[in-house]
Amino acid sequence: METGYNKCIGTIFWIVAKFIITLLCYTVNTYREGMMEMNNFLRSVSIQIQRESNEPLYTQIASALAEAIESGRLAPDTRLPSIRALAAALEVNTVTVVTAYKNLEQQGYVWSRVGSGTFVRPAPPAETTRQIYIPHNGINFASATPTPEIFPVADFQRLLNQVLDRDGGHAFGYQESQGWQPLREAMQKYLANSGIHTPVENIHIISGGQQGIDLAAKILANPGDTIFVEGPTYHGAIASFQSRGARIVAIPLEKDGPNLRELKQALRRHKPRLFYVMPNFQNPTGYSYSTQKKQALLDLAREHQFIIVEDDYLSELSFDHTSRQPLKAMDSQDQVMYIKSFSKILMPGLRLGLTIAPAPLNHGIGAAKQFSDISSSGLLQRTLDLYLREQAWHQHIQAMRKFYSARYQAALKALAEYLPKEVRFTAPGGGLHLWLKLPQGISGDQLYQRCLRENILITPGSFFAPSGRYDQWFRLSYAAAGEDEIFKGVETMGRIIKEINSPHTIQPLL
Ligand SMILES: Cc1ncc(COP(=O)(O)O)c(C=O)c1O
Repeated sequence: METGYNKCIGTIFWIVAKFIITLLCYTVNTYREGMMEMNNFLRSVSIQIQRESNEPLYTQIASALAEAIESGRLAPDTRLPSIRALAAALEVNTVTVVTAYKNLEQQGYVWSRVGSGTFVRPAPPAETTRQIYIPHNGINFASATPTPEIFPVADFQRLLNQVLDRDGGHAFGYQESQGWQPLREAMQKYLANSGIHTPVENIHIISGGQQGIDLAAKILANPGDTIFVEGPTYHGAIASFQSRGARIVAIPLEKDGPNLRELKQALRRHKPRLFYVMPNFQNPTGYSYSTQKKQALLDLAREHQFIIVEDDYLSELSFDHTSRQPLKAMDSQDQVMYIKSFSKILMPGLRLGLTIAPAPLNHGIGAAKQFSDISSSGLLQRTLDLYLREQAWHQHIQAMRKFYSARYQAALKALAEYLPKEVRFTAPGGGLHLWLKLPQGISGDQLYQRCLRENILITPGSFFAPSGRYDQWFRLSYAAAGEDEIFKGVETMGRIIKEINSPHTIQPLL
């Protein structure tokens, strides 16, 4: 009986001992593998911490990781070491690593998921442009195209006839690439209203703002060059710069302009050819730069020798009587390539705009324009010239402000009434869209898909980044939606967000 009991105790002892030994071996192996993994990681990233430097430790770590990601030493989708492990290996506080990872996430280098870890951003899709599907009978919060109801069609009809009576066939001949001289003179006067004073010889007529961006890309960006953009930014610009093989670095945008600390940090790592910006009613955020940030940007451009490409597509559309001058009006050192589009403030089908290049680029812009489309339409240039000279545009812009201000107010009211208060946004005081942040756990792409099922269109935030970031954001444009549609669409959207956000019901297992 006792022997049986002893035998049983012995077996249990043997099993427990074996379990403890296995556990110890496993722990030692895991630790050894972890150390090897960490050593390999630190070899590929090379984080040299300089404790006596003025640069905070977290930016030193973030810079080293960003550099490794950009050079490809840290491949897309690589999982970064855990915060605790990296902090122990670098002998820093865990808060320092948390801040470094957060900083990298804000810049779009990494993404994280609670419980899974932090990962290097995935490789950008091979396709450079994404299309948003727009059905005919839906509520369209995706389009930022002005509504045809308020186009000055009657004025243009009258002026077109005037041009044809006056110029006949000449209006249909090849035109001077730089643009119809009288129109450039009229543009010179128009620009003076915004504080931009420039000789007529510096003004080039272009076929819309998109062509201006494309010309900037052609003359300034070569494969492998680095280009700074605001994060988030206009997807048409991303596509143009990517088509030149340029590397795009997004500088996080704040409510009053680019984050200057991030910009300076990026300037330590890169030598950008240009920084593409929209200082007034930025697309997609609607944010406008403060005068201080405009000046700081000009100072940094001079110090680091890069060109600022200013896309002024909407400065005039201010609803709060604040005048928002273009950056070009402050450009005493000739560092800004200015692009003005007439698509949003007049009619996109005109395909007319202008650009003013810094003196050293003037010839290059002229040549690039000539080999792009020879010239913009002679007939429409002549008609726009008469329209600007008649001063009719003053009234038109007043009418536009009134029309869109009513939609803007309707949108603010509807958002306050129907969306959960966890949805965050800033009222921009003008422009054609609002930029909204969804509650944690809901992505803009998810909302886009769910809204689409109810025939409502929004633009998900991922549309505005070179590498699919801003997934918690979306853009809501009121350019193509009437006031009734705004209320109806936002009410439905509020319901959808609440449905996505509601906690899952747990069914007991019976
Ligand atoms: C910021 C921005 N720049 C440029 C463009 C292109 O405009 P355009 O019609 O003048 O080529 C757009 C069009 O939506 C835009 O949103």
